[in-house]
Amino acid sequence: MTDWFETVAEAERRAKRRLPRSVYAALVAGSERGITASDNTAAFAELGFAPHVVGLSNERELSTTLMGQPLSFPVMISPTGVQAVHPDGEVAVARAAAARGVAMGLSLFASKPIEEVVAANPRTFFQLHWVGSRELLGHMVERARSAGAVGLIVTMDWSFSEGRDWGSPVIPERLDMAAMMRLAPEALARPRWLARWARTGTFPDLTAPNLAPPGKPAPTFFAAYREWKSTPLPTWEDIAWLREQWGGPFMLKGISRVDDAVRAVDAGVTAMSVSNHGGNNLDGSPASIRVLPSIAEAVGDQVEITLDGGIRRGSDVAKALALGARAVLIGRAYLWGLAANGQAGVENVLDILRGGLDSAVLGLGHASVRTLGPSDVVVPPDFACADRLPGPVNPTPIGVGNSYPRS
Ligand SMILES: Cc1cc2nc3c(=O)[nH]c(=O)nc-3n(C[C@H](O)[C@H](O)[C@H](O)COP(=O)(O)O)c2cc1C
Repeated sequence: MTDWFETVAEAERRAKRRLPRSVYAALVAGSERGITASDNTAAFAELGFAPHVVGLSNERELSTTLMGQPLSFPVMISPTGVQAVHPDGEVAVARAAAARGVAMGLSLFASKPIEEVVAANPRTFFQLHWVGSRELLGHMVERARSAGAVGLIVTMDWSFSEGRDWGSPVIPERLDMAAMMRLAPEALARPRWLARWARTGTFPDLTAPNLAPPGKPAPTFFAAYREWKSTPLPTWEDIAWLREQWGGPFMLKGISRVDDAVRAVDAGVTAMSVSNHGGNNLDGSPASIRVLPSIAEAVGDQVEITLDGGIRRGSDVAKALALGARAVLIGRAYLWGLAANGQAGVENVLDILRGGLDSAVLGLGHASVRTLGPSDVVVPPDFACADRLPGPVNPTPIGVGNSYPRS
């Protein structure tokens, strides 16, 4: 069987077959009922296109810039903790992103140190949660700067909601003998995954190297998680402080309301990602794509807007751009590629998205991704939550002007 796959759906099927049950479950999860995680993908399927057929452009320009970085097409790697998917983890993802000319987002909870990831892809953005103290955060900012990170992504949308209805995977604190015995049946059922790790002579490293305080060893993933959970929650002043400490391109990730978008602009961010953490924040929040248009309408002329959540096809990228995003971030899509075939699998996923985006731009009669707009998409009347979103700005309901073009 060839390692090449044709769709992200096929990459997910392979990931499911190749990863131990707990590892796959940790990736696919959304919180509680998984309503938001499902809506993130389902909402894209509700949107249609309004294609042209004659006078189409023979060449399409897909490149853009995001937070000052050139992207060969408007996709970037969203930060995820991928501890056990593949031994090369974030380094493989960063290499794939570099090979395809897109930027890398590296999670604070990543399994690889930022220095290695920047070496693999100089266009790396480092993602922070508000964890520990201003002193620890200041240290991490300085480390990111010395490592050569090109920007910060600060993620705010995590509610620590407990429990997933389908069952949360049991991840051990350390891979000691007892944990290995417990996980052995799962791992042995996935010989290809096991062989990959066996070849490296290591086991998944359940530490968070980017959270190591100066001169101290990296904490375990769970120790870091507990510290994050017990850190007093940040205020908008804290966000403004962090932005000042960094002083460069700064994205706030997790915005899903117009009033928060306006506050984020006031706090001085340069970009924001409309996101619900892939359905891992408050379950029942609407899909990111449903709230994108009102946020883009409110602040899109002041900061760069990206979207993440539910991108599985190039046509999803086109829909997000048409509704106001400058670029999208992808999460599970590249994790499936990584699980299916390492770096080449991530490249495969990026090629699928690029090809699908190009087809959509062609069919919609554009010569560049930059000219995609609301008239390219067909939006059902109740699609958006624009008129229900609280906020000082009265956004234009997405349905207006976006119905099927009439002759
Ligand atoms: C397994 C997993 C781990 C994640 N870890 C992080 C993280 O450490 N930091 C972060 O900002 N977002 C994290 N996210 C959220 C992603 O960056 C992104 O918002 C989400 O995956 C987008 O939805 P999608 O998976 O449908 O593309 C994680 C998501 C998943 C699925």
